[in-house]
Amino acid sequence: MSSLLSGRRVLVTGAAGRIGSVTTEHLSGLGALVTALTIVEDPALKADRVVIGDTRSEEDVATALEGADLVVHLAALAHRDSGTPYDVYTGNVISTFNVLAQAGALGIGRAVVASSINAYGVPMNHHDVLPAYYPLDEKIPSDVDDWYSLSKQNDENTARMAWRHWGIDVVSLRFPHVNSPDVLRRQSDGFRTNPVAGVREGWSYLDTRDAAYAIELSLTAQLSGQHTLFVAAGTTNAPFATEDLLDAFAPRVPRLRRFAGREVPMDLTAARTVLGFQARHELDLPTDRLET
Ligand SMILES: NC(=O)c1ccc[n+]([C@@H]2O[C@H](COP(=O)([O-])OP(=O)(O)OC[C@H]3O[C@@H](n4cnc5c(N)ncnc54)[C@H](O)[C@@H]3O)[C@@H](O)[C@H]2O)c1
Repeated sequence: MSSLLSGRRVLVTGAAGRIGSVTTEHLSGLGALVTALTIVEDPALKADRVVIGDTRSEEDVATALEGADLVVHLAALAHRDSGTPYDVYTGNVISTFNVLAQAGALGIGRAVVASSINAYGVPMNHHDVLPAYYPLDEKIPSDVDDWYSLSKQNDENTARMAWRHWGIDVVSLRFPHVNSPDVLRRQSDGFRTNPVAGVREGWSYLDTRDAAYAIELSLTAQLSGQHTLFVAAGTTNAPFATEDLLDAFAPRVPRLRRFAGREVPMDLTAARTVLGFQARHELDLPTDRLET
């Protein structure tokens, strides 16, 4: 049990979601007192306190923040197609502003926010674009053409503003595709037949349990300020060598270094340095010959 979270009250928004439910259970297991803010009732939630509410509502968030020492903000419409463009964009940015502004004004010391690999825009972009370079890193130029990606980019700006204005430390985690091993394995089967589908994300992925672990470290690491960090497994979920994939599907994109085996073409240095994060659950895949 992590003594660092023992007895500390952590608000988790979006607690009934894919990452939220695993995170709520993980933090509770570490001795945290979790307040779960959820818009839908979920009897399976392993939380000490449950608030049914909407992260867009000032009143609901104020209620949920009562007694909180730390905040994990995961609630969002998690895809471009999860609602109208208006609902996805405004819902996400208003929620993040509302949660961070209230947490900051209350003097809460630390928040973790779910950003996304989509904050750099390229993965969901429906134009014919590729990353500016590999490995993807936190400074990669963005090319946003959808409202979900824009909402995540704005959430990172909101995090910077909240830190500057109220001094609340914020870790914005740029999650790649996060899911259970079964779903990730099915995606990997898809990449076997259609490997180009993962080129804009660098075939990156993260097991949901590792997302919860990255959140734990973001709450407990010694840091100050606002940090935007890519987190991912160290390997890809494509069953081919990364260099072969890049030769085939992104031959003109500059590579700033070479990649060994199935190494993910994403720079994970910042997450390792700031959080001490390294994924604990990686897919055991073969490295097959890529036929193109
Ligand atoms: N799973 C992924 O692959 C992935 C990748 C990158 C980023 N993210 C981000 O991580 C976070 C969690 O994602 P997830 O996969 O668990 O998604 P999810 O859809 O399973 O969970 C999100 C939860 O937020 C809730 N929610 C939405 N709007 C709300 C509102 N206004 N008030 C209260 N609750 C609201 C939903 O009901 C849902 O339970 C999201 O911010 C998402 O954008 C997820």
